[in-house]
Amino acid sequence: MRVGVDYYPEHWPESRWPQDARLMRETGLSVVRLAEFAWCRLEPVEGRYDFAWLDRAIGVLQAEGIVVVLGTPTATPPAWLHERYPDLYPADARRYRLGFGTRLQRCMGNPTMRDYSRRITEAMARHFGQHPGVIGWQTDNEFEANLCYCDGCAERFRVWLRERYGTLDALNAAWGTVFWSQEYSGWSQIPLPWEVRCGKAHNPSLQLDWRRFASETTVEFQREQVEILRRHSPGRFVTHNLMGLHDTLDYFDLAADLDFIAWDNYPGGDWHDDRDPAMSHDVMRGVMRRPFWIMEEQSGIPGWDRIGARPADGQVRAWSWQAVAHGADTVVYFRWRSCLYGTEQYWHGILNHDGQPRRRHREIAQFAREMAALAPVLDGTEARAQVAVLNSYEQNWALKIQPQVDGLGWWEQTRRYYNALRRQGLGVDIVALGADLEDYRVVCAPSWYVLTEEDAARLTAYVRQGGTLVLSPRTGVKDACNTCRPQPLPTLLAEAAGVEVDDYAPLGRREVRVRAGDAEFTASVWADALVPRGAEPIATYADGHFTSEPAIVRNRFGEGTVFTFGVYGEPALYDALMPAILSAAGIEPGARPPDGVDMQWREKPGERVLFVVNQLAAPATAPAPWRLETLLGPAPCGGAIDLPPYAVGVYRRTG
Ligand code: GLA
Ligand code: ZN
Repeated sequence: MRVGVDYYPEHWPESRWPQDARLMRETGLSVVRLAEFAWCRLEPVEGRYDFAWLDRAIGVLQAEGIVVVLGTPTATPPAWLHERYPDLYPADARRYRLGFGTRLQRCMGNPTMRDYSRRITEAMARHFGQHPGVIGWQTDNEFEANLCYCDGCAERFRVWLRERYGTLDALNAAWGTVFWSQEYSGWSQIPLPWEVRCGKAHNPSLQLDWRRFASETTVEFQREQVEILRRHSPGRFVTHNLMGLHDTLDYFDLAADLDFIAWDNYPGGDWHDDRDPAMSHDVMRGVMRRPFWIMEEQSGIPGWDRIGARPADGQVRAWSWQAVAHGADTVVYFRWRSCLYGTEQYWHGILNHDGQPRRRHREIAQFAREMAALAPVLDGTEARAQVAVLNSYEQNWALKIQPQVDGLGWWEQTRRYYNALRRQGLGVDIVALGADLEDYRVVCAPSWYVLTEEDAARLTAYVRQGGTLVLSPRTGVKDACNTCRPQPLPTLLAEAAGVEVDDYAPLGRREVRVRAGDAEFTASVWADALVPRGAEPIATYADGHFTSEPAIVRNRFGEGTVFTFGVYGEPALYDALMPAILSAAGIEPGARPPDGVDMQWREKPGERVLFVVNQLAAPATAPAPWRLETLLGPAPCGGAIDLPPYAVGVYRRTG
C-alpha cells in the first residue's frame, strides 16, 4: 500500500526538483507518476529522443526512495507531428476536423497515429523498461472510445462490418435496412452517424455497431502499447487511469490487457449525502474484481477557466480513506504543485503556486502517515460482497441510442439498486455478466435491454442453481443487432421469470401508485402490465392504466428465485421489498448506516476491517453492533460510533 503524487518535473526548474523530492518523502509519498503529457520534451524533433532529463528526474526521486510509474504520452501528440500529418486530427459528428490547442486531438484508428504511438512507446520502453526506479506503466491518459467521424474511420468501420457480417445481405437483414429504403448494395455506401449529413436518428443497429467499433478501436490502440511495454519492460505492471462512471468505452475490454486498473477520483467540492462516490469506486473495483489504484485523487480546489469549490478541512482525507475502504491499495494525488501556466493553472495541487507546504499538505501528510501505520493490517485485504449489480457498457450504449423515457439511463438504474442495497447495510459488487455469478446470492440486473441467447442462458443457469435474480422493465427487448425481438417480453427470460408483459405505459417523470402489502408507493419511468405465468404478484398498481394488475412479481425457478419489477419505485418501495429479496437469498441485512455515512468492509483470512466515513459537514452516528478494536478515529461506544464532520474510523472486528 502506497501513497503518491502526480508530478510534472518538466514544468519546474531542475534546481527545484531535489527540494520537491525531499518534501515528497517527508510527506510520506513513495510513488510518483511522470511523463504522461511530455511528448514534446521526450521527442522534440521527429526521431530525436531526449530521455536525459527524465533520467535525471527519476534519479532525483530515487535518491529519496521514491519509485516511478511512467505514462506513455500519446494523449498529447506534439505540434510537429500534426503539422506533418493533419489527418491525425479526429473529426466530430459534423465531420469537422479538430485542430491543435488542447489534448486528445488524435484519431486512435489512424494508421499513422498508431505508428507514432508504437514508436514513442517502444523508445520509452527500451530506455526505461528495466530501470530499477520504474515499477510500472500507465498507457496514455483517460482513454475514451474513439468516436471519430473522419473518413478513415468510416473506411475502417466498413471493413469491421464486413468481418462481422460477411455479406451485405446479412448486414441488411440484421439491421433491417429495408426500413426507409436503406438497403446497401455496396460497402462504400454505409455511412457513419454523421449528424449534419444524415440527422441524429440513424438506424439504431448501425449506431450500436458504431459504438462497439469505436470502443474496440481504443482497446486496440492500447493493446499495441501494452504488447510493446510487456516485451521491453518485464516485471513491471501496466495499468490505465479510468474515469469512474465514464461510459463511452467498454472498460471490461480495456482492462483485459492490464494487470490492474487505476482510476481518477474527483468527487468535487460539494459532497452531498448521496452514494455516488462509493458507487463509482465499486464500479471501478468491479471492472477486474481486484484491488485498484487511485492514479489521480483530488488534492485541492479544482478549476480550469472557472474555479470549483474548496474541499472542506478533512474532506480530502475522507475521500482518500473512502477510496481505500472500497478497494484502493494505492492513492496517488493529482498533482504535486499548482501549475503556473497552461489550461490547468487553477487545478490546485498539494502545494499552491508558491510551492510551500500549507494546510492541504498537512492533511495529506496525515493521511500518508495513517496509511503507513495501518498498512500491515490492510495489506492483502479486499472488499468483497455477497450481492451484485450487473454492469454492461453495451446495454448502456443501447439505452443512450434510444433513451425512450427519462429515467432509463444505465447509471440511474444502477444507482436505484445500489443505493437500495447499501441502505440495507450491505457491500455491493458491480460486475460484468461474465463474472462468476455463483459468488453472489443476489444479482440485480438493470434493464438487460439487448439480450443475447448466451446472456439469457447465463442468467437462467444462475437462477436454476439457486441464485436470486432481480429483473427490471425493458429486459429482453432487443437482440444483439439492436432490433426488437418478436417474442412476448421479457422474451428469453419469460420462462425463468414466470411472467409475460401484456402491455406497458412509458411514464418518464409521470407517476403512478403501487401497492405492496399495506403500503402504497409512487413509481415512475415505466409501467409494465405483468401477467403471471407461474409467478406470484408482490405488488399491484393502485392507479393508472393498469389499476389492480401486478406491478412486481416473484417466481421460483429451479433452486432459485426471480423478482421481476415492472416499475421503478421511490426509494421507500425498495426499502419495503428488499428484505424479502434478501431473505429469499438467505442474507441478513447489515447494520444500516444513516444517509451520508459510508460503511465498508475489507477482509482477508483472519482479518475483517470496517471503514466508516462521514461524508457530511455535520456530525453523524453510525451503528456498530460488533466487537471492534479501534485502529483509527473515534472509538465505538454503546454499539454506535459518533462521527464529527468528515471523520474517518477504521476498526478491526474482534467478535
Ligand atoms: C484529468 C486528467 C488530468 C487533469 C485532471 C484535472 O483527470 O487526467 O490530466 O487534467 O483531470 O483537470
Ligand atoms: Zn478517425
